[in-house]
Amino acid sequence: MRKRGSLVYSLPGVVMLMCKFISIVHGQQYTEKTVSKVTFNERNGSLVSALFVLGDSSVDCGDNTLFYPLLHGRLSLHPCNGSDATLLPQLIAEKIGLTSIRPFYAQNGSLTEVLGGLNFGSTQATIMNQGSFSHQSLNQQLRQVSESLQLLQLQLSENSATEFTKSSIFFLSFGKEDYIDLFLHNSSSPMLNHDAQYFATILVNQMTNAMRYLYEANARKIICLGVLPLGCTPRIAWESNQTSNGDDINGNGCVDNVNDWILEYNRMLDEHIVQLNAEFSDAHIVFCDVYSGILEIINKPRFYGFEDTKSACCGLGLNGAMLGCISTEMACNQASSHVWWDLYNPTQAVNSILAEAAWSNQPIPDICRPLTIHDLVNTKT
Ligand SMILES: *[C@@H]1O[C@H](CO)[C@@H](O)[C@H](O)[C@H]1NC(C)=O
Ligand SMILES: *[C@@H]1O[C@H](CO)[C@@H](O)[C@H](O)[C@H]1NC(C)=O
Ligand SMILES: *[C@@H]1O[C@H](CO)[C@@H](O)[C@H](O)[C@H]1NC(C)=O
Ligand SMILES: *[C@@H]1O[C@H](CO)[C@@H](O)[C@H](O)[C@H]1NC(C)=O
Ligand SMILES: *[C@@H]1O[C@H](CO)[C@@H](O)[C@H](O)[C@H]1NC(C)=O
Repeated sequence: MRKRGSLVYSLPGVVMLMCKFISIVHGQQYTEKTVSKVTFNERNGSLVSALFVLGDSSVDCGDNTLFYPLLHGRLSLHPCNGSDATLLPQLIAEKIGLTSIRPFYAQNGSLTEVLGGLNFGSTQATIMNQGSFSHQSLNQQLRQVSESLQLLQLQLSENSATEFTKSSIFFLSFGKEDYIDLFLHNSSSPMLNHDAQYFATILVNQMTNAMRYLYEANARKIICLGVLPLGCTPRIAWESNQTSNGDDINGNGCVDNVNDWILEYNRMLDEHIVQLNAEFSDAHIVFCDVYSGILEIINKPRFYGFEDTKSACCGLGLNGAMLGCISTEMACNQASSHVWWDLYNPTQAVNSILAEAAWSNQPIPDICRPLTIHDLVNTKT
């Protein structure tokens, strides 16, 4: 039996609150019973209280993007087919047994919804702040995480709030939009000046600071994703074909120099996470290498059940890469045979394989390190 403050664990995943507290939230009374029921996912025996998701279009379909249809800058209104449930964090959440994650902007600010987990992520979110063009940048999302955790502190006892946060998972997936907007299309930041190493360093430092910030806020389980092989996405291959007549495109349809920049970012992020794990010995930070997972699928498409590794299922023009997915009605008939859903995003079929690999090391090993998500979930903090 482990004691911490007023909490006593008797069984794994079950909390008995020794101190009495009742707080009034939106006219509802939250008693210890309500809290332990909502907080601990007893039916699935999970040790994880909730999943909090931060990121870009790899975690949000547009549900959490205010005025998304008005602001979409890159002509893909539907970065996935209809629902966040087709994306990696939700597919992983399902495996953990957490299915109540709400988009931050769709929640009603009640304790119940925070306890169920929130998705702060937003299509087109970047690591860098971009002034008024910012769509839910990393820092904005961190502020919202902080507000939500403060709500817990106010409405639960401090000990319960801390235990809840420690036993939750924070999922971060950023970087793709920074490379698209600021680096490849350098719309607003000429100072970045196409120095790939410098750019990767800035981004990785920001991500590292974000993980430190979450640790300070009592997060002890963090999943951080690398960036996918952007050079293989339909849009980047198409743009390269426009400017170089395809000379830069390799046999797999990928633009090597773009992928090299992404690899540099991923390598540095991985390294920094190794260092953070050494520094924060009571935390578990998992790096998931979606780049190598997707490249493995692109290299052996048939083996993984794919026919098409180059063209977007939903898009117009050569390889569906000229114009993004404006309506899901324009999608191809068999999305599951495509690696790519739209200009820059993989299909649900790819995400499902990545989720399984992240969870169990099957069918693609070593995507997540140093732990699989399954092992992360079952590690006590
Ligand atoms: C438990 O996990 C399964 C998926 O493995 C999910 O379908 C089910 O809804 C989960 N149960 C609860 C109570 O979340
Ligand atoms: C907020 O949402 C939760 C469930 O999602 C619901 O139980 C609760 O009644 C809602 N509260 C308000 C004030 O609408
Ligand atoms: C990016 O900016 C640099 C200098 O600021 C310029 O030379 C280059 O052409 C720009 N690239 C694109 C793709 O706009
Ligand atoms: C490049 O574009 C041309 C037509 O514009 C097309 O025929 C060719 O297949 C494209 N190459 C690649 C690698 O996409
Ligand atoms: C998109 O989702 C809808 C609703 O789930 C489904 O009926 C449709 O087949 C999906 N389309 C593709 C291309 O996956």
